[in-house]
Amino acid sequence: MTSFRIVQISDTHLSRVHPQFVGNYEVASDFANAHKPDLVIHSGDVAVEATARADDLLFAKEAMESLDAPYRVIAGNHDIGDNPGNGGYMPKKPVNAERIATHEALFGSSQWQLDAAGWSIIGVNAQLFLSGLAEEAAQEQWLDQMLSASNGKPVAMFCHKPLLLDAIEEPEDIPYRYVPMVPRRKLAALMEKANVQLFACGHVHQSRDHVVDGIRHVWGPATAFTLPDDVQPKVGIKRVGLVTYEFGPDGVKVEAVFPEAMTAHAYETVKAAYA
Ligand SMILES: [Fe+2]
Ligand SMILES: [Fe+2]
Repeated sequence: MTSFRIVQISDTHLSRVHPQFVGNYEVASDFANAHKPDLVIHSGDVAVEATARADDLLFAKEAMESLDAPYRVIAGNHDIGDNPGNGGYMPKKPVNAERIATHEALFGSSQWQLDAAGWSIIGVNAQLFLSGLAEEAAQEQWLDQMLSASNGKPVAMFCHKPLLLDAIEEPEDIPYRYVPMVPRRKLAALMEKANVQLFACGHVHQSRDHVVDGIRHVWGPATAFTLPDDVQPKVGIKRVGLVTYEFGPDGVKVEAVFPEAMTAHAYETVKAAYA
């Protein structure tokens, strides 16, 4: 296979009882079905709030079944709970083994690896960082193995949270936004042993595409909604959309897509979904 095409969708925030964002998901799934990618990656937050309602995950699973292409899902904080963060930050709804198991039963493991078009493509579960769960240590060991086994091939990593804002070493920022500093340094050291060229994520609900230390960082836009600047400072593009990738022997082509048919929801709509 000389090329491998992926559609990344992220932060769909689906729920049967809060269906505000279903329309935008349908635009994304219609786009993916017309684009005919080899794979769809959902980079997390399939649910509005699965830690409060298990049915959000069931509903999201039904929605994902409308995709013609095979898909892989990576858990987000609204799917399995959040990880502790910098500066002793403890989330109100922490990740735990039961939530991980519930998500995995529907969507499979958030850690996966596949070889395609000369690349190694790896899914990483950011929600495990600093959790102290056995799954966190197991992921670290597994990532070490996967990156060593990539043997110089270009590597693309997909994760719910961004690795960084602008640098590996930077002042500790919003504690729940990025991979926290301690696991970030460990992950960066593992990545240095391999030919990592791309780190793609979701979570921030802003679209961004920048290069740090030779690695391209792509923040996928949310499908569901963006937040106003007075609620969340703007660092990227605040539009709803998705991302297409074409991996090949000469690199990867990346394009953020912002379909006109998607609705830019008012903040009142977002608040209603989380009321
Ligand atoms: Fe999200
Ligand atoms: Fe998130």
